[in-house]
Amino acid sequence: MASCYYCARIKQSDPAYKVRCAVHALSSRAPRCSFHWQYVCGKCGRSNHFACTAFCPETGLYFGSCCAMRVDTVSDRFWSWDYYFVLTSPWTGRQQPGLDRQEFERRGSLISQVSAPANDCGPPFVGTVMGGQAPAATPLTASDVENAWNRNADVWDQGIAEKGDETRIYITDCSVFAFIGNVAGKDIVDLGCGNGYLSRTLARSSARVTGVDQSGAMIERALCHEATEPLGIVYHKCSITQLQPLASESIDIAVSNFVLQDVGDYSKAVSEAYRILRTGGTAVFAITHPCFSCGPRRWVFDAEDTPRQEEAAHFAVDHYFEETAYIMDDWPGFDPVPYFHRPLENYWRAFKDAGFEVMDFSEPRLSTRGRTELPVRAVSQYSRIPLACVFKLRKPPFVHLST
Ligand SMILES: C[S@@+](CC[C@H](N)C(=O)[O-])C[C@H]1O[C@@H](n2cnc3c(N)ncnc32)[C@H](O)[C@@H]1O
Ligand SMILES: [Zn+2]
Ligand SMILES: [Zn+2]
Repeated sequence: MASCYYCARIKQSDPAYKVRCAVHALSSRAPRCSFHWQYVCGKCGRSNHFACTAFCPETGLYFGSCCAMRVDTVSDRFWSWDYYFVLTSPWTGRQQPGLDRQEFERRGSLISQVSAPANDCGPPFVGTVMGGQAPAATPLTASDVENAWNRNADVWDQGIAEKGDETRIYITDCSVFAFIGNVAGKDIVDLGCGNGYLSRTLARSSARVTGVDQSGAMIERALCHEATEPLGIVYHKCSITQLQPLASESIDIAVSNFVLQDVGDYSKAVSEAYRILRTGGTAVFAITHPCFSCGPRRWVFDAEDTPRQEEAAHFAVDHYFEETAYIMDDWPGFDPVPYFHRPLENYWRAFKDAGFEVMDFSEPRLSTRGRTELPVRAVSQYSRIPLACVFKLRKPPFVHLST
């Protein structure tokens, strides 16, 4: 009979620990005993991994992270773990540690304390869990992309706020700004500007900025910010594949931050960027890294339901060479987001074919500040694979051939 994955793990830190037999998830890489399994939340009836379930002594009920008033993490090493979850009871407002920590604190008395597992029959464990994305069922159009971003404009505006999200702040902005270089007095276009956070950052550094986005809802958010803090940014609602509002040779720097992977006709977008740039001008394209955005695109865990993100065994990708439209549906708070996967080579080719010189390339890494400020789960995942890559391109100056 298989031993419990968690009991065995605890025994590695505490040789006296008595390992129990597994009775759940037997065909998985993490078979588990009844105690180290899942518990039904007494508030909503959903099952939760034992580490993000707590026991409320006043009601005699378990409650999970699904219904806790708050879920906090406390850094403290116990057995092989570096932190534990503390859940605030939805009934009493009192804080209780997750069951893993509770077991550690009470050791031998735990099992009788929390009684039999509440969820012996549990949800069926299928061994693998669906990924965070799947190929689009029907061909993806520009209006599908536009509608998706219209639906996500509010949550995007709240999440990105004024500084960008976690990945921009701690990973990619540094490379993007280094490639953009000095912006004072320059004409800059932000292609696919979203709510305009990057446009505003550039305008505050004395650039003349134009923002372009095909999502009307995003442009509305950007205009709201402009009304609150006028920076002289001009916004246009249009696709970056057809930049009619912008004259040829009118821009010094074109930047596009995580947009090109959303664009079906990406070659057209690249040639439009080339058209509007002055000779010698710079284009900076940050894209979701194609090597890590295809196939299931998800972290794989031995215990699929673990709330500890840093316990990922590996990151799964597949079908790299297939140009595929995907629908990503694991972005917390977001409506499913469509995008186009294509091999890295295709982007290089599009840049070269448009006439650009590739001046620099970066796979941004987690900054030192990110390592210090982010929680352990984020540090461990962000330091394992690149989320993005950034190209710095130049529209070459005319070469006068001597006769
Ligand atoms: C991931 S968001 C990035 C927004 C912004 N660049 C930032 O870094 O915060 C992608 C944005 O690209 C826009 N977008 C997608 N396809 C576009 C297209 N063909 N033309 C213009 N904007 C597009 C979306 O509407 C959305 O606002
Ligand atoms: Zn166990
Ligand atoms: Zn619940």
